[in-house]
This record gives sequence, structure tokens and C-alpha cells, in this order.
Amino acid sequence: MSDRYLELAQTSLGRQFFSALNLPGPPRLAREPQPYGAQPLAGKSAIVGGVAQARYRGGVEAALKGAGASLAESAAPLLVFDAAGATGPIELKSLYSFFHQHLEGLPSGARIVVIGRAAASCESAAEAAAAGALSGFVKSLAKEIGRKGSTANLLTVADGAEPWIDGALRFLLSGHAAFVTGQVLPLVPAARSLKPGDFNQPLAGKTALVTGAARGIGAAIAATLAREGAQVIGVDRPQEEEALNATLHPIGGRAVLLDVTAADAGARIAEAAGKLDLLVHNAGVTRDKLLRKMPEHYWDMVLGINLDAIVRINEQLLGDNLKPQARLVCIASIGGIAGNAGQTNYAATKSGVIGYVAALAPELAKRGMAINAVAPGFIETQMTASIPPANRFFGRRMSALLQGGLPEDIAEAVTFLGAAPLSGGVNGATLRVCGQNWLG
Ligand SMILES: NC(=O)c1ccc[n+]([C@@H]2O[C@H](COP(=O)([O-])OP(=O)(O)OC[C@H]3O[C@@H](n4cnc5c(N)ncnc54)[C@H](O)[C@@H]3O)[C@@H](O)[C@H]2O)c1
Repeated sequence: MSDRYLELAQTSLGRQFFSALNLPGPPRLAREPQPYGAQPLAGKSAIVGGVAQARYRGGVEAALKGAGASLAESAAPLLVFDAAGATGPIELKSLYSFFHQHLEGLPSGARIVVIGRAAASCESAAEAAAAGALSGFVKSLAKEIGRKGSTANLLTVADGAEPWIDGALRFLLSGHAAFVTGQVLPLVPAARSLKPGDFNQPLAGKTALVTGAARGIGAAIAATLAREGAQVIGVDRPQEEEALNATLHPIGGRAVLLDVTAADAGARIAEAAGKLDLLVHNAGVTRDKLLRKMPEHYWDMVLGINLDAIVRINEQLLGDNLKPQARLVCIASIGGIAGNAGQTNYAATKSGVIGYVAALAPELAKRGMAINAVAPGFIETQMTASIPPANRFFGRRMSALLQGGLPEDIAEAVTFLGAAPLSGGVNGATLRVCGQNWLG
């Protein structure tokens, strides 16, 4: 469904109209539809700053150059500040000074990443206080710059996770993360067997399965995984055969028709797909009603598809049907973080997903695998087209970027989390892709 307010705001007449009435005009987001390639930041300039004893600054500069960016002293669209190494709050003055200086004249569509140490790796409470301050700083900064389509995010780095800063920067500083802002992405050490690999075609040779791939977010995930080299298998309900084939045909993918709630869904996936490198649990439904009016079958259906099917299919596949170093990505929702009246069933399943990935991650890490979740905000799909118009208007506008996201925005985050060279250091995390929606 198109967003007329956004479309109007992006015409030259609309811009004049919005500015005359002092209305917030949603910006055009700088998305990147092309594959990452070896140098996703080519042609961009970056300013790097840091606290006095910045831990990662040298590595960050090398990573930026490796990704194709040139280092600059002023007027650049990429700003990276290494705050790891601040032993106490007073050292954060350099954080203030850096951004105070460089925000003046920041171009539209700019990307900011602040890097801090994970709380668990801090050596003193004072260091943890400085590290903790970074998330409030970044979340507020994201709200200040969102109207220009710019983003700000925080990377927290646990000891041993340093090799994974490079891949995370390639995502967060590029147009692949245009709808990710105001978020904290934690990097943890990966299994010893996993090394940052080739960034070019990071999913080449990998087999990926996506549930609910016939339309909406699932179809975008299938296309984006294929763009990065994956062989894609799409799953959807038998009645969606035509739509599923239409999604998969252009990308050379294979269709498996099944209802994810079938008792033998995992076994049928294993039989049709063989061993998987990447498994994306995207299929989901809403059946909204205030709890006192909610019929039992609404509860059963939503719990069955959105949560129970994920747990059961994984139990069946984790035995011997995932490759070593397989990655799993589940789709949650900001509804599971904030809660919504009329969505006790849906929100329960989505917070269930968030708890599930956090709980399963340590066990999978021992096997060299990883599981993460993506929590979409308001995304323009058939699911949100059914929301009442007034709620839809506010759902879109109540975010730092003043608009809903596209299925492609979720697909980019799933692709990042599914590609070990980019996100090998992310495990057990839930990444919100919501334009910093004010809910949750
Ligand atoms: N659109 C949003 O704003 C939004 C926000 C937060 C989370 N999400 C989540 O993103 C995911 C995709 O949502 P969407 O907006 O693309 O929805 P959609 O309704 O457009 O697509 C969902 C797909 O899942 C399939 N599906 C449903 N039940 C199934 C079953 N039992 N077995 C197999 N396939 C099944 C459908 O046929 C459909 O192709 C869902 O998990 C949803 O909860 C969406």
C-alpha cells in the first residue's frame, strides 16, 4: 500500500508545502539495492574519531579503507567514533566535541556509528558507566538526525569480538541499513572455527530456506539472499503456490509447499532441502482482538504459526539437518517489545521469539552456529495494509525517519545476520529494523 503523505513530501511542490506549514516531511532514504561487493563504501568519505585511548581506532580505519571509504577531516557522510577505552564518563567529552563539530553541515542520508565496549568486558564500574552512556547518546542523536534520512547506531564489542567490527560497519554504514537507526548491535566472540571471510558474495555456495516466502517480507528476503549468492528454497502454504512460484522463478529458487504448523514440517523440509546453511523463520500471521473478545482459535493459530512452528521445526532440523556454522534468523516484531492492545496473541509470540533466540544462542555457538532475530517496525506489506487508516498513519509517522519501512529493509537485515562474513560476531541478538519507531 502506498504512503501518499510520503510521496507528496518527496515532490518539490510537496517540500515547499510541508516547509510552509512547518510539517515534518519524511525524507527519501538512501537505500542500496546492489550487492555488497568487495567495497560497499566505495566513493564515500569517513571521519573517524575516538577517545584518548581508543581501542579499535586503527582497526576501524583499516576496515573503512578496505571497504572502499576514504578518510577525511571534515564534511563526510560517514562518521565513526570509537568510545571504547573511555575509563570513565569524563572522557566522553571527546564524544561531545567530535559530534558537536561534525554535525554542522552533515549531509542527508549520513551514517553514524559509535563503538563501545560490551558492559561484561568493562574492567570497572566507571568504565561501564561510560560504556552505558553511549546507548542513550546514540538513541537521542538518531532522533535529532532522522528527519534528514540519517542514521546513528551503536556497536558494543565484547572481548574477542574485534574481528567482526569490519563486517558490522559494512552493514551499518551502507545503504543496506537505511531503516536501522537508534539501535545497539552487540558483537560477541564467534566460534573459533569461524573466521571473517570473503565479503564479496557473502552467501555464494550457501543454501538458504525462507518460510512465508510467497509475498511481503519473505519474498524480499528470498530475493535479497539470492542477490548475495544464495541458492534459495521458499516455503509457503499450498494455496500460495502461484505467488510462491512467481517469487522464486526469477531468482532460480525452489518451492516447497507446506504449512509450517504441520507435525512433520521439519522432516519435510529436511527431505526437500537437504542440509541448510541458513534458515529464516519468517511465516507469520496476525489475528487481532481484545483478549476478552478473542476467540480461542485466534490464539491457537497465531501461537502455532508464529512461535510453536519455529521451535518444533528447529528441534527437527537441529539434529543433523543444518550444516556446521549454519545461521538461523527469526522474524520477531516491535509489537513483542512494546505490546499492543488487541495483540496479546501476536505480541506474545514475538516476545517469545526474542527470548527463544537469546536462550538458544549459547548452545548453537558451541556447534559453530548462530541464531538471531529481526524485529520489524511498521513495514509496508499486505499485513499492515489491513490496519485501520488512522493507526496506519501514526504507525508510519511515529519514528525517527517519519515513515514505514519496506520489505527490502527487513530483507537486508536478515541477509546481514545470515551472512557469516558480515555478522559472524552477532549471536542471540534481536535487531530492530523500525526507523527507530517510538513504540518499544
Ligand atoms: N509487515 C509488518 O509491518 C511486520 C511488522 C513486524 C513483524 N512482521 C513479521 O514479518 C513476517 C512477514 O510478515 P509480512 O508482513 O510479510 O506478512 P504477509 O502476510 O504479507 O506474508 C506472510 C507470509 O507467510 C505465509 N504463511 C502464513 N501462515 C503460514 C503457514 N502456516 N505456513 C506457511 N506459510 C505461512 C503467508 O502465506 C504469506 O506468504 C511475519 O512474521 C510478521 O509477523 C511484519
